[in-house]
Amino acid sequence: MRHFVIAGILVIVATVLMYMGLNAAHLMPVNASAQATEIDWMWNLQLMGMAFLFSLIVIPMFYSLAVFRPKKGDTTDAEHIEGNTPLEITWTVIPLFVVVIFAYLGAGNLSRTLRISPDAMVVNVTGIQWDWKFEYPEYGITTTELYLPVDKAVVLKMTSNDVIHSFWVPEFRVKQDLVPGRVTELRITPTVIDDYKVRCAELCGTSHYSMEEFVRVVDDTAFAGWISEQQAIAQEALATPEGHGQLLVTTNGCAACHSINGEPGIGPTWFGLAGSQEELEDGSIVIADDAYLFESIRDPRAKVVKGFNPTMPLYPFTDEEIADIVAYIKTLK
Ligand code: CUA
Repeated sequence: MRHFVIAGILVIVATVLMYMGLNAAHLMPVNASAQATEIDWMWNLQLMGMAFLFSLIVIPMFYSLAVFRPKKGDTTDAEHIEGNTPLEITWTVIPLFVVVIFAYLGAGNLSRTLRISPDAMVVNVTGIQWDWKFEYPEYGITTTELYLPVDKAVVLKMTSNDVIHSFWVPEFRVKQDLVPGRVTELRITPTVIDDYKVRCAELCGTSHYSMEEFVRVVDDTAFAGWISEQQAIAQEALATPEGHGQLLVTTNGCAACHSINGEPGIGPTWFGLAGSQEELEDGSIVIADDAYLFESIRDPRAKVVKGFNPTMPLYPFTDEEIADIVAYIKTLK
């Protein structure tokens, strides 16, 4: 009995120390959404469970090793044990209950995390190799950065143009895949004004590592200001073909591969491209005229410039949109 009391006290002490240690390790970044609060509560409960189970196994083991080791010169066998039915029933039934309770708590937690808020703002998110595109249908704008008003529920309706990507802002805790041909949803209510980053959490090709973009949580005034600013930019851009082309380029993530200042990238730079001579993979030379630029956007694999991989995805641009993009590329010299 004395041994049980001592080992029991040691288990409790080890559990508390272990839990404090895990907490001090700051395994999670700052909690910045209503969903994160739910998830952190569940995570915390599991940390307690882990600390207790670890101590329950390791402490009695080391206690036995230390206290019940054979005396010097004692070579007799240990007492033979044939099993213990009450003990086996106990250690089967108790964990069963614990697992069922955790499943119950987890299901409630999940349903609160996924709960639909009727007044949620919709943002359509598109994943592109290797960039993000955010469309605000209520305001008629499309952007590369995600702005969210603080304390307002938002529902992201997400899809992909090419391969599977995954939307992940660690501070919001929730994560969801973007799947071509399907719309997946993610609900977030940001609670802390700050700048965060969305990272693609699904290996999606050459530049997966750089598929990140700012997520800025701002107050209502700043959000309204940003919306009207973006609307003005879009209005102005629509006035000219090259303006529209530039807007298309920015909102479709072309800059992830093509620089506009001559710097090398995954694709050829656009600086001074129009009208220049380009050597193709087979050694032939083409002039980068309107027709060539048009063809290279419509069918990127038709004529690949030497030294580049044919990795550019197909974009569903209309002929007019491509003509506007070509007009924009022609301004870069
Ligand atoms: Cu998109 Cu990784």
